[in-house]
Amino acid sequence: MPKLDPRFLESRKVGRENGLETSEELQAWSAELASAHRALLERSKDPTAMLGWIRLPEATEEARGILRFSQRAGWARDVVVLGIGGSALGAKALYQALAPATPPARLHFVDHTDPVPVARLLGQLDPATTLVLVISKSGGTAETLAAFLIFRRWLADALGEGWRNHVAVVTDPEKGALRAYARAHGLTAFPVPPDVGGRFSVFSPVGLLPLALGGVPIEDLLMGARRANARALEEAGKSALFLYLLERHRGKRIHVLMPYGQRLERVADWFVQLHAESLGKARDARGSRVHTGPTPLAALGPTDQHSLLQLLREGPNDKLVIVVRAEDPGKDLPLPEDPSLPSASYLFGKTLAVLQDAEARGTTLALAEAGRPVLTLILPAIDPPALGDLLQFFMWQTAFMGELYGVNAFDQPGVELAKTYTYALMGREGYQEVRRRLEEEGV
Ligand code: PA5
Repeated sequence: MPKLDPRFLESRKVGRENGLETSEELQAWSAELASAHRALLERSKDPTAMLGWIRLPEATEEARGILRFSQRAGWARDVVVLGIGGSALGAKALYQALAPATPPARLHFVDHTDPVPVARLLGQLDPATTLVLVISKSGGTAETLAAFLIFRRWLADALGEGWRNHVAVVTDPEKGALRAYARAHGLTAFPVPPDVGGRFSVFSPVGLLPLALGGVPIEDLLMGARRANARALEEAGKSALFLYLLERHRGKRIHVLMPYGQRLERVADWFVQLHAESLGKARDARGSRVHTGPTPLAALGPTDQHSLLQLLREGPNDKLVIVVRAEDPGKDLPLPEDPSLPSASYLFGKTLAVLQDAEARGTTLALAEAGRPVLTLILPAIDPPALGDLLQFFMWQTAFMGELYGVNAFDQPGVELAKTYTYALMGREGYQEVRRRLEEEGV
């Protein structure tokens, strides 16, 4: 079993430089944090509190059901995931990080409405060996249903009634149009627990079903997530407190997640959605106006050392950077010698992973010297337990931050409003009213 030990290397330094250790703020807030932890655990018993994600890592029986289905679907060479936002980003991130070199099925994500890539994808696939997953908690999201209409027709044209064996649905166990549709057509359907919201659903069938089909060991992911649960207060809670205090009291309003390693690029996208939708709120939990939320920003090391880093180090001092790096890169590639290129001799005999590690440390130093706070998260490896741990850690971090800001981290009224306007503009109820509002706003 790999060593599971994400640590905050720079946290003491961050605390010192921002006056958090000497001011006794941390001590005072630690009690607050412990009570937030107790409150979250207590509220998790209430199904309306949307804290069901805490117990998902324990749902090993459900995971086995998913594995049995993916064995039966061994005929599928391609799996198309139709879903958007929380119904896509987690699986996308983990598939990019963890897909085996030759996956049992290739995963394709349609989380957009751009006709050209959709048409291109259809042109590449064989309906006889394609499985389509329709993933929507609400069962009503326009982008997902629109893509489903296209893919269902494509399957039915090729397979007739057999299209039903090429579609599986992940949605609410009772409510919504997609659940009713699955029942009416006898489709295989997996539930999203009602008390788990989209961006917290990666360890429900929303994420586990596509990942299992793509060959990612989902039981190992859950094992890592259980570790994050066990260390929630010490690790996620502590990091949430740093992020909160640095934002509220030191003006670090932009939080940049900068993983080192191209495999982790989409983890940063998933993180951005998690923090933005959970913490960007106009009202606190009591309904008073607040307008809270640090701005999350995705970066990638070392690519963004040649882009964002200049701004991060020398631009406005309103950012903190969270670096994620792995101790064990898995496979590594040596850098061969080339005597005719002496200017690169410092690289000879090293490896790509050694270079990447030097880049991460170099960036941390460059930022720290300029007084820019950096938190470093070290993963033992880029493997399923470590990634399960990391994602569950970030969910806890978000929940703790929601408590500290006093907002409901589990709703997304702004997202829902834009969905309603889209439905209206596409001809559902409210069309006239939304047209009038568009004209008023000059949109
Ligand atoms: O996190 C969320 O709640 C959202 O991003 C949703 O996941 C997204 O809007 C898709 O919703 P649904 O799963 O209902 O189609």
